[in-house]
Amino acid sequence: MIQIKEMAPRDGLQNEKVKILTEDKIEFIQKLQQAGITYIEIGAFVHPDKVPQMADTEAVIRGVDLQEGVETSVLVPNMHGFQKALDLGMKEVAVFTAASETFNQKNINASIQESLDRFKPVFEAAENNGIKVRGYISTAFVCPFEGLVSTNKVIPIIESLLEMGCYEVSIGDTIGKATTDQVTELFSKTHQLGLNGWLAGHFHDTYGQALENIKASLAFDIEVFDASAGGLGGCPYAPGAPGNVATEDVVDFLNSQNITLPIQINKLIEAISFIESKIGRELNSKTYKKYK
Ligand code: HMG
Ligand code: MG
Repeated sequence: MIQIKEMAPRDGLQNEKVKILTEDKIEFIQKLQQAGITYIEIGAFVHPDKVPQMADTEAVIRGVDLQEGVETSVLVPNMHGFQKALDLGMKEVAVFTAASETFNQKNINASIQESLDRFKPVFEAAENNGIKVRGYISTAFVCPFEGLVSTNKVIPIIESLLEMGCYEVSIGDTIGKATTDQVTELFSKTHQLGLNGWLAGHFHDTYGQALENIKASLAFDIEVFDASAGGLGGCPYAPGAPGNVATEDVVDFLNSQNITLPIQINKLIEAISFIESKIGRELNSKTYKKYK
């Protein structure tokens, strides 16, 4: 079954220049739930100097009234972040590394191996406390500093994260430069290895390629896609990484493929319109412009 994982409250807002009030983040999350979104990455327990917009994640988690059946996750780069998630009763966290060394250093101040080492106690503690762990691999196709990334770099990291205990690994096209050929190459190889039931696609839409890349992923039985309402998004440590693929565009595209999700576009548009009024710039995904 195809599933969308909503990134807007975390990946979406983390790069916005205007400080969004905690109460507005909470209202945005409530509106996303009302639209039928069933999985939300709610924030990040990272260093507040690195990503100031995420500094109020604890207050957001405390303030959100979760509807039945809605799952939430929070980014944690290490035990420091995991402990906060645990103390707040989170049932899922996400660890994140990359397939290129330069990006990983800039993003989390660690080599790829060092980051996996940091995750070991997180996986142990997660298992002891019954918490699910999702994993991200950034720059899985192209790195803003090193250029093209080989599948030979990505596949061992996928395998490590799954062996360590991730229930799913999300493959990040961090700067939206992946081509459908690259997506096909990676997911055909992982398909041969029997891994695709554990993978998700996380496509940024910098060059309008994300929907094509989702289509290429569907051909290899990838069923989970990260997306961000309004096409909000971007990583502050990846120059040229604007929006994630817009949730409303993915819903619209899937509809065109006869895949219907229980997400109500009109309510989603309301949520986007609400956050647009707070961030001080226009959002302009194809579907948002059509319906707003
Ligand atoms: P570091 O400086 O190596 O950390 O940063 P450290 O362990 O040496 O500790 C230094 C200080 O940070 C200490 O405080 C720690 O307590 C504190 P001090 O003693 O100096 O007062 N500290 C923390 N504070 C808050 N939260 C924590 C934490 N850990 C240590 N979790 C660190 C390493 C990972 C913390 C830092 O580099 C960081 O916070 N990076 C975050 C980067 C980030 O959030 N990037 C955006 C998200 S990733 C993304 O967008 C990509 C994705 O969407 C997929 C894709 O698109 O590809 C997921
Ligand atoms: Mg991202």
